[in-house]
Amino acid sequence: MLAKLQGACDVEMYQDGDLPHAELVAHVSGKQALLSVVTDTLDRAVIEAGRDLKVISTIAVGYNNIDIAAARERGVIVTNTPDVLTEAAADLTWSLILGMTRRIVEGDRLVRRGGWKGFTLDFMLGTDLRGKQLGIVGFGRIGRAVAAKATTFGMKVASTSRTGQASDLAEAMPLDRLLTTSGVVSLHCPLTAETKHVINQATLMRMKRSAYLVNASRGPVVDEAALVWALENRVIAGAALDVYEREPEIHRGLLALENVVLSPHLGSSTIETRTTMIHLAADNIVAVLAGRPPITPV
Ligand code: DGY
Repeated sequence: MLAKLQGACDVEMYQDGDLPHAELVAHVSGKQALLSVVTDTLDRAVIEAGRDLKVISTIAVGYNNIDIAAARERGVIVTNTPDVLTEAAADLTWSLILGMTRRIVEGDRLVRRGGWKGFTLDFMLGTDLRGKQLGIVGFGRIGRAVAAKATTFGMKVASTSRTGQASDLAEAMPLDRLLTTSGVVSLHCPLTAETKHVINQATLMRMKRSAYLVNASRGPVVDEAALVWALENRVIAGAALDVYEREPEIHRGLLALENVVLSPHLGSSTIETRTTMIHLAADNIVAVLAGRPPITPV
C-alpha cells in the first residue's frame, strides 16, 4: 500500500497512535490527500486548514468522524471502503450473537478463575436462537449480510431502516414493533443526528425482558448509561458490544456485568479484510491525484 502511494506522491506518515487534533490541523496544510482511520476527527478546522486537499480517504465504511458538508463546500472528495468489509462485519456480529446467547465469554471467565466444578444438566444454560426473531436496525449492506446468515440459525428477520425498504430477507416494520417482538436486536445504522441514542431508556423498556442487544455499528447509537441501567435491572437479558460511546473508554458499569460481551471494535479486523480495505483506500487516493474519478466516493 505504501509503495502504491509513494509511486503517486510524497508520503508523510504518522502511525504512532492518534495524531492530536492541533497537530493534524498543522500538518494538513500543503497536503493534497489525507489517508485516515475512524479515530481521526476530520472536522471543519482540519478541512479548512487543508487548503490544497483534493481527497480524504478513510479506511472504514463509516464516516461520521468526517465533516462531509465542510468537505463538499471546499470541493474535497471523501472516499470510504464499503463492500469489502461487509462479510467480516456480519461474521463478527454473528460471533457476538452466539457468544452472548451461549455465554461463551462468561464461561471462559469462570473456567479461568477455577469456578468450573464439572458438568451438570442445568449449568450455565443459554438461549436458543431457533424460532426467534432477529431485529435489524439499519438495513444497509452489513444489516442485509447479517440477515442473510440468519436462516442458518433458524431465525426469522425483521428490519427497520430510514427508507423502510422491503426485502425478501426481512419483514420491514417500524422500530417500536421490531423492539417489542425481537429476541435479538442488532444495530447496523450509521451514526447520524437521528440515530444518536436511538437505543435509550425508553426504547430499551420496549424490548422483551428475554431479549439481547448487539451493537457493532457506532457506540453513540446506544445511550450507554441507559444500557447499564437496563442490564443491571434485567430490563433486557444481555448485550454484546463492539463499539462504545467514548472509545477506548468503557463505561465502568458495563465492566462489572456478567451478562455483557465486550469486544474492542473488531468489526472488520481480519487480515484479509483489512488488507483489502487499505489497498482500496490507497487506490482512491491514487485515482484522485491522477485526475481520475474515485472508486468508492462517499
Ligand atoms: C468501519 O469500517 O466503519 C469500522 O468501524 C472500522 O473498521
